[in-house]
Amino acid sequence: MLLRTGAEIPSSEITPKELYEAFQANRRSVLTGLGAMGVAAAAAGFPRMAAAETKLNNLVETKYAVPDRATTPEAKAKSYNNFYEFGEDKSDPAKNAHTLRTRPWSVKVEGLVQKPRTIDDDTIAGYRPMEQRVYRFRCVEAWSMVIPWDGYPLAEFIKAMDPLPSAKYVQFISLADGKQELLPGGIEWPYSEGLRMDEAMNPLTLLTFGSYGETLANQQGAPIRVIVPWKYGFKSAKSIVTIRFVDKQPPTTWNELAANEYGFYSNVNPSVDHPRWSQAHERLLNSNTIFPKYVPTLMFNGYGDQVASMYAGMDLKKNY
Ligand code: MTE
Repeated sequence: MLLRTGAEIPSSEITPKELYEAFQANRRSVLTGLGAMGVAAAAAGFPRMAAAETKLNNLVETKYAVPDRATTPEAKAKSYNNFYEFGEDKSDPAKNAHTLRTRPWSVKVEGLVQKPRTIDDDTIAGYRPMEQRVYRFRCVEAWSMVIPWDGYPLAEFIKAMDPLPSAKYVQFISLADGKQELLPGGIEWPYSEGLRMDEAMNPLTLLTFGSYGETLANQQGAPIRVIVPWKYGFKSAKSIVTIRFVDKQPPTTWNELAANEYGFYSNVNPSVDHPRWSQAHERLLNSNTIFPKYVPTLMFNGYGDQVASMYAGMDLKKNY
């Protein structure tokens, strides 16, 4: 999977006018957070190494606050990561992902869509005002965090892309150009994930550009990822370079690797154990590693009111 450099079609041509104007306004406010040198380098078109996180200063406060749990300390959220492209230990991505070059960045939108196109990440970030949503985020490995993610509903982006009625699923493919990542063996790269169209369109599914009010750290999947808060964390693909609309359930990395352990749906479900461990409880990640706190896991990670109806009539033990 090669990284395409820059948009092949000018943003003004591929984006409906009102979205383009919103983008310009949003982009200006994002750029106010950049240092003068960074702006100059970007304007001159110089390639530059992944920038340190930049403050996002146009965020709308979320209505999805999680009142029952404390927010995970930022340092923890950015140093305890799964991003296998950069190593298998939780501490590896923070150590190794500085080699990821997040600028220029572009995303290919392809498959069953009216007009396939390639769009740069700034344009995508500017489609809609971003809001901050504090979401519970639970990994299949039975730990969880509470993170303020910054982005806007993926549904808004999908609508702007105008998929064909035959598009039933959305596939997300992560960068794996073989130069910037370690790409350990045993996994077939690039990382691939997918959602059913109604899941992708659910207002909770967030196209994510930042966390804690800053652009994503490389180890969190900069510059663009998805967050699907009612599913195990592996459904939330990082550093996305392709969004593909398809008519059949797409192949997904962990499902291909071990289908008996990682299903396509992977809704957080305390009553369906992982074959090697229980999913009934989770360890809250906070700064206190000596006395970790365990809490019962909630069905759909606590988002049942917003998502359960999508699975009415489905056997969630079979469709794990
Ligand atoms: N995306 C890519 N491209 N590569 C990965 O290894 N790991 C997944 C998911 N997305 C992964 C990925 C898993 S297993 C989890 S739990 C979450 O990212 C972790 O996200 P975080 O590091 O922001 O907590």
